[in-house]
Amino acid sequence: MKQLQAIQFLVVLAFTLFSFRQNSDLKASRVRGKEIFIGNCITCHMQNGEGIEGVYPPLAKSDYLMADKIRRIKQVLEGASGPMVVNGIQYNGFMTGFGLNNKEVSDLLNYIRNSWAITEKSLHQKK
Ligand code: HEC
Repeated sequence: MKQLQAIQFLVVLAFTLFSFRQNSDLKASRVRGKEIFIGNCITCHMQNGEGIEGVYPPLAKSDYLMADKIRRIKQVLEGASGPMVVNGIQYNGFMTGFGLNNKEVSDLLNYIRNSWAITEKSLHQKK
């Protein structure tokens, strides 16, 4: 019986440590992502990702960005143009692609998706 309790304790401990580690990985990734955002995106999409209505679409709370993982990665790498509707507002502009590597894109999107008090999860819950 004691042995079983010890095993249970170890399993719980392992899970706790694992989730702490994941949280700190995400935090570090977001910190790196913020630097990339400031260096490349802030001039158009603004400090809090709010964009400029009708000209530069928002990244914060963007239903369009959240809806498609592959598309958002491709747009960061290859750019975006043509008509799109973001949070009910029509855009028809042009953005160049950015020469970022896989890790940079992942850090950047971790920052964008987990900052400004919005997460993919909370967006889905609102629907
Ligand atoms: C020179 C201005 C400019 C810069 C800098 C810029 N963008 Fe954009 N971005 C735009 C415009 C304009 C659009 C809309 C394009 C269209 O209408 O087809 C857009 C659209 C987007 C979209 C899709 C729409 C949305 O809001 O979800 C994403 C994602 C995006 N940009 C991410 C980024 C990221 C990440 C960076 C930095 C690496 C960045 N942009 C830098 C101008 C810019």
